[in-house]
Order: sequence, then C-alpha cells, then structure tokens
Amino acid sequence: MTKEPTSQSQHLEEIVRTRLSRRTAVKGLLAGGAAAAASGIAPMRWLTDTALAAAGDPSTLTFKQADHVIKDDHHVAPGYNAQVLIRWGDKVLGDAPEWDVNNLTPEAQEKQFGYNNDFVAYLPLPAGSSNSEHGLLCVNHEYTNGEMMFDGLTRKDKVAQMDARQTDIDMSAHGHAVIEIRKTGDQWEVVENSPYARRISARTTEIAISGPAAGSDRMKTSYDATGMRVIGTINNCAGGVTPWGTVLMAEENFHGYFSGDPEKTSEAENYRSYGLAGKSRYSWSRFHDRFDIEKEPNEPNRFGWMVEFDPYDPNSVPVKRTSLGRFKHEAATCVTLPDNRLVVYSGDDERFEHLYKYVSNGRFDPNNRTNNQDLLDDGTLFVAKFEDDGIVRWLPLVWGTGPLTPENGFRSQGDVMIETRKAAKLLGATPMDRPEDVEPNLVNGRVYMMLTNNTRRKPEQVDAANPRAENAFGHILELIPPGARGPEGGKMAEHDALTFKWEIVMLCGDPNNPDHGAKYHPQTAEYGAWLAAPDNCTFDNQGRLWISTDQGSSQRKNNIPDGMYACDLDGPGRALTKFFYACPRDAEMCGPVFTPDNSTLFVAVQHPGEGGESVFANPSTRFPDFQDGVPPRPSIVAITKASSGSFGDA
Ligand code: FEO
Ligand code: CA
Ligand code: CA
Ligand code: CA
Repeated sequence: MTKEPTSQSQHLEEIVRTRLSRRTAVKGLLAGGAAAAASGIAPMRWLTDTALAAAGDPSTLTFKQADHVIKDDHHVAPGYNAQVLIRWGDKVLGDAPEWDVNNLTPEAQEKQFGYNNDFVAYLPLPAGSSNSEHGLLCVNHEYTNGEMMFDGLTRKDKVAQMDARQTDIDMSAHGHAVIEIRKTGDQWEVVENSPYARRISARTTEIAISGPAAGSDRMKTSYDATGMRVIGTINNCAGGVTPWGTVLMAEENFHGYFSGDPEKTSEAENYRSYGLAGKSRYSWSRFHDRFDIEKEPNEPNRFGWMVEFDPYDPNSVPVKRTSLGRFKHEAATCVTLPDNRLVVYSGDDERFEHLYKYVSNGRFDPNNRTNNQDLLDDGTLFVAKFEDDGIVRWLPLVWGTGPLTPENGFRSQGDVMIETRKAAKLLGATPMDRPEDVEPNLVNGRVYMMLTNNTRRKPEQVDAANPRAENAFGHILELIPPGARGPEGGKMAEHDALTFKWEIVMLCGDPNNPDHGAKYHPQTAEYGAWLAAPDNCTFDNQGRLWISTDQGSSQRKNNIPDGMYACDLDGPGRALTKFFYACPRDAEMCGPVFTPDNSTLFVAVQHPGEGGESVFANPSTRFPDFQDGVPPRPSIVAITKASSGSFGDA
C-alpha cells in the first residue's frame, strides 16, 4: 500500500538512502526494480571498480536454485539430498512406544519427539571435537497445533474442545529433545537407546531459577515458596550454544498459555506489557490452575527466560538464567571476547520490541567446564538504541542507574530483569520490526539481525533502522562492532563495545513490485530469488549468510514457499539472495545449522499444513508420510551435497 510521504518520512528516506548506498550510489550502479532505482541500492563492501563492472552472476554461491514455488512436499536445490531424519512422535528414549496417532498418551509423548521443532543445535561427539558425522542434535519444541494432532478439533475452538488427556499430551509435546545421530555414507540415522537421549517437557521437567530474579517474592507460587524452581519451559523458539557446550533454549511467547484477568493481579502493568490479555491460546488453565493467573498470580513471572542445560548429562537440571532478562526471547547466540568474557545476543520478538546483548563479568575457562556454570548469572544486560546516523548505542540495564530506580517501580535488579521491557523503554531503546534471530558472524566479526515484519508501523513511526511503514516483508540489519573490518574482522570484533555502527543489508519483498520497496543486490531479480519474513539464520565457514523464513499466513498471499535462502555478505555478490530449499506447504523454516565441516545442513520444518481450514482429517499437506489418515508431522531434515565440492556450489 502506498502512502503520501510525510516530511519526516522524506527525511528518513534520505537517511536510508545514505545508509544503503554510501559506497555504490556514487559509482552510478542502478538497481533492478523501479523502487530500488528511485531510492538507492544495496551496499557492497571493498569493491573495486573492476568488480562492479563485471558481467554475469557475481555471487560465490553457484548452486542451481530450487523451484521457487509452493508444493505439498519439500524440495531442495538440484544436486543436494534432503533426508527426513526425525518426525513428531518418533522415538527419543529407548523405551518409547511406537507412535500411533490414534492412540496418543502423555506418557508416550514424554518419550517421543515433540511437536513444532524450532531451534536445532549440532554438538559433536566426543564433546569438544569437530566430528561432523556423529553428534547430538538438540531441538526445541516451540508450540503445538492441536487441530493437526487430534481428530475432530478445529483451529478456532480447540481451546474449549481439548480434554484433560489431550491437554497433557499437548504439554508433553512442548520443550526440547536430545538425540544422538550418526552418519553412514550419505545417510544420517538416529542412534537407538542412546545414553544421551532426553526429553524436556512443559509438564514434568523440574527447572531451577538463578540470577537476580531468583527468590524474588514476585517469583513465588503455591507450588514453590522459594521462587527458585519451576516445572517446565514453554514456547522454546530459537536458542544458542555456549562455548562450554551447553544449550540455551529461549522462552518466547509465554503469554499465550495463561488465562485470567491481569487487572485482578498485582502485576497488571507487567502482564499487560507482555500481552497477557485474559484469554489463553491453550487449554492448559482449564486443567492446571497454575496457568490461571487469578488462581496463581505470579506464575507468568516464571516464564520468558533463557534456559541453559547440559546435553551431555541427561540428568542435569536445566536453569532459567534471569540475568539475561525476561522477554519474548528469540535466540541466544554466544561469542567469546579475546579475554574470554562471553557476549550473548538475543532479540525480543514482538512488534516495536528491542534487541539485547549480555556481557559476562567472568571469563570462559576452556580447561574446566564446571568453572563456567555461573557465567550467565553474573554480567550486564544491554539494550540497543539505533541512531539515524548509523550508530547503535548499547544501554545498560542496571538497577539504581538512570531511570531504573524505586521511583519507577524498580526495587532491585531482580525487578529490572522481571520487567525488562519497561526498563528498556525507560532507557530509550529503539522499537524494532520484530527482532527474531540475531547472530554474530565469526568470519567477518559483524552481527546480523533478522527483523521479520511489522505491519503496524505507521508512517510517522518509521526510523532509519526500521525504514518502512507497514513493513510486511521484513529486513536484515548488520551491526558492526569496532574492529570488525577486513579479513581479520572475526578475530578483532569488540562485541563488548558500547557503540557499534549499523547498516541495512536488505529490505525484503519482491524487487519487481515497486509497492514492496524492496532492496537487495541489484541483480537479485536476474540471478537470485526474493524472500519475505527472515526469521532464523546461520553462517557457513566462508561467512556467507543462510536465512530461513516464516511468512505465517502471508505465505498463501505472497505465493512463495518458506525455506532456506543464501547470500554473500562481502564482495560483489553481497545481498544477492538465492533460493536453496523449500518447505512443504504451510510450513515455516527454522533451526538452520551446519556440521563443523559444512557437509550437512540441518533444518527444522515447523507446522506443515497450518492455516486456513486445514485440520487433522483434511490437512493442506500430509508431509512427510503422505499416508491417508496420517496428519502432517513437523520434522528435522538433513541436507547433504550429492557430489563432491563445497556446500553452496553447483
Ligand atoms: Fe518463535 Fe519469533 O518465532
Ligand atoms: Ca522464530
Ligand atoms: Ca540460527
Ligand atoms: Ca517463526
């Protein structure tokens, strides 16, 4: 939809043009689409005039693209294999029963692979090695689609329709799974009866609480008078891996599990700020009082945290690390500084929410794993303020400083962490277009931030880092710490610095449709493919960006599949996106991660068949089994190259 530009938006347009095209506009390159031609083109680093003048496809990614069309089945670029490794209901624990979709039980689900796989981590075996053919796969199970799991439910009314048994299955299908996997030839398989196999669930797993909010009166419930322990973790979206080989599971949309009126609690302002609105998206509170805030008013304060656990020890107790703040966490990506302090990046995935980073006080000890167990309890959380001049400032959330005082309702650092959003807003953090994954690139030292979309941003609300009103397609930002320049960028980046620079890598959408205002490399329409709603990302060993997308219900409208796209970040192919792998219909793509040698890319196909009138009996796809009576199943897919050569080559 085109709007009359306001004088403010004209001013911002000018800034964005500068931020997008400092180096290239002066060289007179023209962009592909009309909108792009009018307002500048994607930046390209360290280009020579010769490189700019080169004809042909400038990308280092030479694979032949996958068909950019939606199909019932998944499909991958020619010359690559896509193998379904594990599906919802498959065995995780050795004594798990065979999956029978017509006879599901909570006890079986506690031992089987959960629903809606999101984050995926590959941890080599033995621990600390770089083995790319044997390891642990650690997978978040974010949420469920009851209408696809149980016959007879509808998407609209399932909260009222689900019975107690279905509700417990639903709770057990949330959480996390650890499986041991091994590659023989070009096929991966799950190792049966692995001593590492584990399910963490929302229904049964005991979890500790640590850091400044632990023990707060606001964390205490009738189950837990200490405020130090909680049953379960929910809505585990993306995540991360620490340098000492533990896994971080991000609790994202925790608000959707609670019923009851926030105004009837002493936490009304807090709960409103996180979107609790009286109505639950799940049936849990009908059978478990702790999800009804009028019965258990502090329970929502015990969710929205970053959860750490040790996948190498199946008996380890996961810990909610409250030093990393409470919000709708998407991702927790770690990088060590030269002095071995740790930095963790995390986004708060909601419209107009913020980007955060945590800097530890202690140092990672590579020689003694147990010395690292408190690094995520002692440190400083910062929130990002993006200035229009291309600077990003990191503002510390420290109790007693600036506005974070008792006058504003903060009586302790625990309060600052429980109400992280309120603290960030008081500090003047920039409201972003839904921060999803944020990841440091260890090759070039810069940090990449996926902003998935924000159709509620009004023209008068645009700023240089969120430059489009009604942003339906999302964009990708690049944050540049001091030192992150040139070939040594990955080693020199100062991720703890209080000031970074930032640039726009791309504005997503169709470059051939002027209404989208998309901006990529100018030859994207010719040699690549457009994308919408960047969600997760990862990097290959050359530092190239691999992007997974989640268009949600817009997939049907945009009529392009969700899946994996890849582009160069440096050199003449910067921001020329190519399409590599297509999800099946109505699925989103999550969890991309490479093995250390880049020979396998693992991806998570989440909620195949979700949307519209699609239900168990009549789903829009039956991926991956395609058998009558069997609904679609969220699955992990292992992608390998069929012939020799590097991943990303033809
Ligand atoms: Fe669970 Fe922000 O995606
Ligand atoms: Ca996501
Ligand atoms: Ca990622
Ligand atoms: Ca998503």
